[in-house]
Amino acid sequence: MKNVQITAPVITLEGKELLPAGAIVNHDIMRQLIVASQDTCKAVSLFGYGTVASDIREFMCRPPYDIIYSNKNDAEHLLGLLEKVMVIQPILGSLDYFKTNDFHTYRHTLMVYVLSCYMGCFIIPDFENQLKDIAGAPSHDFGKINVPLSILKKQGPLNSTELLQIRHHSIAGYCLLCYYYKSLRHPSAVLARDHHERRNGQGYPQGITDISTMVELVIISDVYDALLSPRDYRLEAFDNRSALETITAMAENREISWDIVKFLISQNRTGKPDYKTLQVSLAKRGHSPEKNNYGIIDDGE
Ligand SMILES: [Fe+2]
Ligand SMILES: [Fe+2]
Repeated sequence: MKNVQITAPVITLEGKELLPAGAIVNHDIMRQLIVASQDTCKAVSLFGYGTVASDIREFMCRPPYDIIYSNKNDAEHLLGLLEKVMVIQPILGSLDYFKTNDFHTYRHTLMVYVLSCYMGCFIIPDFENQLKDIAGAPSHDFGKINVPLSILKKQGPLNSTELLQIRHHSIAGYCLLCYYYKSLRHPSAVLARDHHERRNGQGYPQGITDISTMVELVIISDVYDALLSPRDYRLEAFDNRSALETITAMAENREISWDIVKFLISQNRTGKPDYKTLQVSLAKRGHSPEKNNYGIIDDGE
């Protein structure tokens, strides 16, 4: 990986500072952190923990996910796969933290994981047998434990300093998950680091263009779920049509893969047509929120 300079410290759930603000992150630095790590994290069942399984089932019934998961056989098949997923304790700790302090991030984390795995079942050959090795866990935004809640939940536009603090979460999540998993290449760590990258190199933290299909599944699930959710900075959410149009525009702009966008659109249509032959309208007729501060930087100038 490239050298990435961090703008804020990386701090574990237990309050231990792994790296100070301004440090450079690369594989050599991460190897040193992993060697110094004493703790071994036990893997436990995701669905056996607290209300995770019942919360996922409930969130899957809310529009528009009720349409996406309307094929009962496919939905139950997916849930059967997820029932076997084992995760390390710190991931459950982060879910508890978000559930208590920022419920949006809790729900979002679970739904991005579920949607990316659902799409993986159709798009990635032999996904079921590879789930453990490529799909990680509900942890793409793990690094948000290092972003102040006042910024995560801010009403109104962010200023550029706050934007840098939010962006810190992708590299912070990578560092923390490498540390907990004692691996530089664990899928959870890589997905946390790369889920804001874009095919055209306009993403962060590295600006890479070579993006795996699994990472793209998380990228698209992440943007889609974020648009559909009301937030403190945007009290009205995008409607489903305008969310899909926004994602279509990202594919037009070569930020993300057309195939995955077409698959997501096909799952929103009755009869779920074959995505490979799907015709996608490029007309923009959806209704996006009037007061939308997403992507708007306000430095008070
Ligand atoms: Fe994120
Ligand atoms: Fe996210």
